[in-house]
Order: sequence, then structure tokens, then C-alpha cells
Amino acid sequence: MKVAIVGAGGISHRHAEAYASTGRTELVGVSDIVFSQAEAVASKFGSTPYADLSELLAKADPDLVSVTTPPGSHAALALQILAAGKSVLLEKPPVLSLAEMDAVAEAERSSAGSVYVVFQHRHGSGGVRAADLLSRGVLGEPRVAVCETLWFRPRSYFDPEWRGTWVGEGGGPTLGHGIHQIDLLLHLLGPWQTINATAVRLDRPVEFEDVSMASVTFENGAVATVINSLLSPRELSRIRIDTTGGTLEVNHLYGYSDADWTFTPAPDATVAATLGLNPGVPRTEEPLVSDVWTASAGHDIPSNHEAQLGRLVDDLLTGRPHDTTLSSTRPTMEFVTALYASALTTTPIHRKDLTPTHPFYPTLNGGVPQPKITEAFSL
Ligand SMILES: NC(=O)c1ccc[n+]([C@@H]2O[C@H](COP(=O)([O-])OP(=O)(O)OC[C@H]3O[C@@H](n4cnc5c(N)ncnc54)[C@H](O)[C@@H]3O)[C@@H](O)[C@H]2O)c1
Repeated sequence: MKVAIVGAGGISHRHAEAYASTGRTELVGVSDIVFSQAEAVASKFGSTPYADLSELLAKADPDLVSVTTPPGSHAALALQILAAGKSVLLEKPPVLSLAEMDAVAEAERSSAGSVYVVFQHRHGSGGVRAADLLSRGVLGEPRVAVCETLWFRPRSYFDPEWRGTWVGEGGGPTLGHGIHQIDLLLHLLGPWQTINATAVRLDRPVEFEDVSMASVTFENGAVATVINSLLSPRELSRIRIDTTGGTLEVNHLYGYSDADWTFTPAPDATVAATLGLNPGVPRTEEPLVSDVWTASAGHDIPSNHEAQLGRLVDDLLTGRPHDTTLSSTRPTMEFVTALYASALTTTPIHRKDLTPTHPFYPTLNGGVPQPKITEAFSL
């Protein structure tokens, strides 16, 4: 399969390596608006540099193009690639608004190409097992969830011109960082219903938030809290789902392995009857039980670009549908949109209300003037 990359910065290396690791792709071109960047990545991975995406599309004739540019350019590049009849793999966040998402989706309908999105944490073996077991009800009914992206980015992280702005980066940790765990949470729990959120800018030199918090209800009756921060020195990414059958948890940072997942079955009736009777007395050690989570373990696949791009190449070559499509990531963009809308309007947002006439449909800041956003995100 002929693959290409547009945007030869940091993450483009992970794409080139992941494609190479499949042994079934040829990297036919790399383009970047800074030609020396394209040259550096092309020479490292044995490919051809292009200064211009149109020239790459015409001369190299790729089947699939990875878009690894800053988020503000994703939609326009996706439209260009689809117009050439080629498939696109968009880095996260796929686009900056629901309006952009729907414009790309419309172009996809009339193109020979398709649009896929990088959310690698759907593709590690732990995530695949969790999605499968939860969707079949094998782990019990989800009740309560916690989704945490507690990361640290210093002020210097925002030095590049595109960072820290609505136009270039598109949003803060809600859109750019927490979106990984948010996408996985929604992938595991299904459709969300309502969001109540707060966002604040406590320190970093950005137009948007550096911390956001949300409480969320889901169609299946579960509730969750979500926090996204760039001010947290001991970094972690965590999802915990309490079901009627036990507690499923993944605790990692930028990627998990099977060892980062645990499942703690709910106590049996005898143990449960003793809980809370002697406050302050630790719960006695329960015997190890063989549970359905442990029994489902297989080959350990870490949640990285190799996991997703390997599966994508496999799916495309064998004609199988690949599940991380543009449309399958719409609930995630809706969630991010609602979080900003709720934080800026101080009202709950219902997913069903995010129609094209909603003020936050065209842009994640809802067209609110910057001084008002600054005021709203100040304590
Ligand atoms: N999936 C992940 O874990 C992960 C991790 C890091 C970054 N990302 C995403 O990858 C994307 C790129 O991030 P990065 O850290 O590699 O950025 P970067 O700044 O290191 O690289 C971006 C590159 O794109 C080029 N560029 C900018 N606009 C362009 C355009 N219109 N056409 C062609 N080239 C253009 C720049 O010159 C630069 O070389 C972002 O969307 C980011 O969110 C994803």
C-alpha cells in the first residue's frame, strides 16, 4: 500500500515508523510547508520530499495520507486529499469544530477516499478487550466512571506560534490532550447525554483553559467525572469504570500495556454485608478469584501508533472496515464542543441540542469575544 505523510514534525516519525513496521507499505512521499522538514523525514525513512501537497498527490499517487500537521490545518488538508480521491488518516484532534467535521464528512461521501482518525488508545489489547466485554455486558452494567488526564506542560510548550491559540491549536487540554482518554471513555461507555462543565486558565499563556472539569451522564444510566489538566507535575492518564460486576481501571501515561489494566470483582454477598460496619478498619484481604477480565487476556498489544496504523493497513489491505472512522469519533468532538459550551455559558449541554444552529457548532469558543472568554476562564 502506498502511504504518504503531510506535516513532517514530531509525530510524523511515529507514523513513518508504524507504517514501516507493517512491512506492507511504501512511504511514497513526505510534504511540509517547511521543505527542510520534509527533506529530513523523507531522508530518514527513505522517501521523497515535497514542498507542496498537490504535487505529492499528483506525482506519488498515495492510497492513504497521514495528516500530521497542527490541528488548525487538518480540515483543509483532508478536503484536498479527498478531492484527489485518496484516503486520509487525521491525527487527533481530527478537526476544530463540528462544522469542520461535517464538511469533511460531506466531502468523504463524494470521494473515493475515506477518513480515519488516530485514537491509538482504542487499539491496544486492553482497550479492545474492555470494549468487547463491556459491550456484551460481561463485566456488568456501568454505573460510575472517572476519566483523568493530569499532564504537565510548561509555559515554553506554548512557544510555537500555533500553540495556545483557538485558530492554531483549537483548544486546551480538553481538545488537545484529554481527548485521548475522553475518546476511550466514550468508546467504552457509549453515547453520552448531558455535560456540566467548568474550565479555568490558572497559569499557562493560552487563549483557552489549562484545566477543565466536567460531570457527565450517559444514555446507559452511568455517570462520570472528567478532568483535564496541564498543570499536574506527577502525570497520569486514568479511566476507572465501576460496574455492577466490579471495577475496571487503566492507569498509564501516554500509552498502556495489559499490565496497566486491572479488574477488581465486586465483593460477594458475605463480604459485602460486612462493609461499612467498622469504619476505619481496613477491609480484609479477599481471596484471589479467577475473573472474566483475567481470563480474556491474550497477546499484549500496547496502545501506540503501531497498534492502530498496523490494524488500519491490515483492514484496508483485506477490505475489512476499520472502526476508527471520522463518524465514529463524532461523539468525542460533540463532547469537547459541549464541554466548552457548558463552561462558557454556565449551563448544562445536552448532546441532542448540538445541531448546526447551536452557537458552538461553528467554533469551539462559540464566537464569544476573547475578553469575555478570558473573564469566564478566570477565577
Ligand atoms: N496521537 C498522539 O499521541 C499525538 C501526539 C503528539 C501530537 N499529535 C498530533 O499530531 C499533530 C502534529 O503535532 P506535532 O507535535 O507533530 O506538531 P509539530 O509542530 O512538531 O509538526 C507539525 C509540522 O507540520 C508542518 N505544517 C504546518 N502546517 C502545515 C500545512 N498546512 N501543510 C503542511 N505542513 C504543515 C510544520 O511545518 C511542522 O513541520 C497535531 O494534531 C497533534 O495534536 C498526536
